[in-house]
Amino acid sequence: MLDAPRSQPTLPLFDAFPKLASCVSWMSLGHWPTPVQEAKRFASEFGLRQFFIKREDLSHPHGAGNKVRGLEFLLADAQLRGARTIVTASAVGSHHVCKTAWHARQLGIDTVAIVVPQPKAAYVARNLLLGASVGTRYVPANYVTAIPKVIRELLRRNEHKQRPYWIAPGGTTPLSCLGHVNAAFELRRQIDAGQLPIPDYLYVAMGSLGTAAGLAVGCALAGLPTQIVGVVVSHRWYATKGRWLRLARRVHKQMRRADATVPECGIDRARFHIVGSALGRGYALVSEGATRLAERMRAAEGIELDGTYTAKAAHGMMQFIEANKLQDRVHLLWHTFHAIGPRPDLAPHCAQLPPVLKAYIE
Ligand SMILES: Cc1ncc(COP(=O)(O)O)c(C=O)c1O
Repeated sequence: MLDAPRSQPTLPLFDAFPKLASCVSWMSLGHWPTPVQEAKRFASEFGLRQFFIKREDLSHPHGAGNKVRGLEFLLADAQLRGARTIVTASAVGSHHVCKTAWHARQLGIDTVAIVVPQPKAAYVARNLLLGASVGTRYVPANYVTAIPKVIRELLRRNEHKQRPYWIAPGGTTPLSCLGHVNAAFELRRQIDAGQLPIPDYLYVAMGSLGTAAGLAVGCALAGLPTQIVGVVVSHRWYATKGRWLRLARRVHKQMRRADATVPECGIDRARFHIVGSALGRGYALVSEGATRLAERMRAAEGIELDGTYTAKAAHGMMQFIEANKLQDRVHLLWHTFHAIGPRPDLAPHCAQLPPVLKAYIE
């Protein structure tokens, strides 16, 4: 974090902790607050008393989804440091890479993305093409473990004449997690305004864990007794309660270092749950149960869920509710996905991709 004094705090989080606003860099990219929608038809179909959806998929008209909140901190920090290139890493069809590159481009910053293989899907092709359309340079790596070597090689060649700004896979760092801490304060305001009751349970997909970690800290600091259920969508060995809460504690510690008025908050393990049973055969592999649930959500509410993240989050939610007989409680699903529709205009950008990535477009 750098000292970036600003006179106008513009986030609910900064209203709660004004000193924090003067210590962290932040810029507005998204459309806030994201709406909370009551999903009455879906709830009645599944016998739920009250069910709401936090529409993070509406956080931006072109580049929405959960990653925008973190990018408001990361790109502001990159800009403050004078970065002209961002280097990041993820799976080939990563929303994180695509959204980072899109928003960075609006600021005149280039993106280099080191990408590892993943199953083919329509959204993978769309994300790749959108990334290519904003000039992203994709560098394929065969394995996650090869990423550090590729980064060293990029730095050694020093093509960018200055040290690039590194963003961790999935865009998850203690700094970016502040975006999701703020989201909990935003939710608190929506509750106080009567848009929804305090949810008993909040469900969120767990990829690189940043969204879940930020929400854990934010709910605790905003005084929300809501229990958070993380649904594993990446890897069971990675998305553990231990790693989730360690990251949450790091986020909280960073906040207290920046602003001593941030109170202690007990991150009580009992309020956090992990559901691993909705992952199916693995990351980005669609599961039948999640697909069926996504169809019912589309029919009941006209809301699109994706097979990699949000349909599995919803499936995990239903498994958790049924296993624990929680139908009479208040449930909130964190809708993190932003669908990019078919864009025939992007097809020519396939030519800019490295040959090995073109296979994802066919
Ligand atoms: C659409 C979508 N939902 C959820 C997630 C998971 O968020 P996180 O990586 O913060 O755990 C991701 C991560 O890439 C995502 O792209």
